[in-house]
Amino acid sequence: MRGGGVRALSAVARGVTGASSSPGARSRWPVTRSTTANPGAYLSSTRTPQASGCGSASSSARALYSTQRETKSETPPSFAFAFDIDGVLLHVAKPIPGAAKTLRYLQDHNIPFILLTNGGGKLEAERVKDLSSKLGVHLTTENFVQSHTPFRQLVEGGDGEENSLRDKTILVTGADAAKCRDIAESYGFKNVITPADILFAHPSVFPFDPLLESVYASTHRALPKPIYAPGGGRSLTNSLKIDAMFVFNDPRDWALDIQVIADLLLSHAGYLGTYSSKNADPSLPACGWQQDGQPPLYFSNADLFWSTGFHLPRFGQGAFQAAVAGVWRRITGGHELQRRAIGKPYGETYRFAELVLGAHRHEILRTQGYHEPPGTLRSVYMVGDNPESDIAGANEYASEVGTEWCSVLVRTGVWSPERGGQEVLKGRLEPKVVVDDVEAAVRWALEREGWKM
Ligand code: G3P
Ligand code: MG
Repeated sequence: MRGGGVRALSAVARGVTGASSSPGARSRWPVTRSTTANPGAYLSSTRTPQASGCGSASSSARALYSTQRETKSETPPSFAFAFDIDGVLLHVAKPIPGAAKTLRYLQDHNIPFILLTNGGGKLEAERVKDLSSKLGVHLTTENFVQSHTPFRQLVEGGDGEENSLRDKTILVTGADAAKCRDIAESYGFKNVITPADILFAHPSVFPFDPLLESVYASTHRALPKPIYAPGGGRSLTNSLKIDAMFVFNDPRDWALDIQVIADLLLSHAGYLGTYSSKNADPSLPACGWQQDGQPPLYFSNADLFWSTGFHLPRFGQGAFQAAVAGVWRRITGGHELQRRAIGKPYGETYRFAELVLGAHRHEILRTQGYHEPPGTLRSVYMVGDNPESDIAGANEYASEVGTEWCSVLVRTGVWSPERGGQEVLKGRLEPKVVVDDVEAAVRWALEREGWKM
């Protein structure tokens, strides 16, 4: 879902995930297990990693885990990991073998990592709690980035009050739009509307909707202002105006959501129920489409497919985005939908993740009594299952602090030799190495780093 119509998010704001420098953050990783530095027989995967580009992987039989915990003398390494979730650590609720102990090994050896997912739809703290119980590993929000977490930056707007959306009215949708409203409000957005609010106030917006009672009755809220209606005797200023639209995760009610989004894209300046006089005006740029102060449309995840519990990948938010863009092309006679997209593979999300990882690593250093100037993070291993998002994103990301992002593709998710095969792993989709699973990925990276296991 790259190219036409997709633009990056505005500015990057620092310290946005609540990455607190609270003393003893490191101590939240309960130290229940003990590890040693010397290798012992543990797990071996069947196939040696296929390395291309950086460094070759030696035999995979060598154990990754040991028993004795290292003393404080161990300086945190100048490398770190970024783990995708779906298809790498979990298949929806089911942990992928090796995932939990791999994370524990890294925690025990002060090897920083973050979880970087295109998933979303839950408050970060809630999702982390859920992940901790599923994986049996203590995780925190300090090293956790969901697809929509960077939207937090738009509350203050980064550069100047005029860009702040804090007090503006935004529309949010997703699998559970009411839940997405809670998340948006937890980020600081003050006026958050859902499609259900609009439908409940004006059922005629979507005439054939059986979900009104069954789904939306319990989740809708009253609109701050009624929708504009011609001849209704109400001025525009007293009518509902939407200033921005956000898709937080994979919508469930595509029909209603696409209707409301299209109404706003065709509106005058975001006043729902109006129709811009500039639409289809050939004398205007893009024939006047989206040229009349319509609200920007933000997507948080471009994945067409994602890896779940079903044996074949399922449609992700990228499929919904494609549907909206397709309907827009039909409405406009082929014009590309102008939208803003974050999530992997976009640089915005990697820049954001790098900030989070940097702050988290700094916290680990601090709690270990070390202090290293920022920017000494030499390499980040991005372990993912989706060439289009995890691999392309890491390959194309140009770190402002010169950190190398090294892409590692696992065979436990969206891509597999049977699905897509080697031939697709070319150019921006070519990983540095293909391995069986997350455990083999970490082992390959540690060997590449000469880390004594
Ligand atoms: O909806 C989530 C999906 O698109 C992928 O999530 O964790 O593999 O980036 P993840
Ligand atoms: Mg994935």
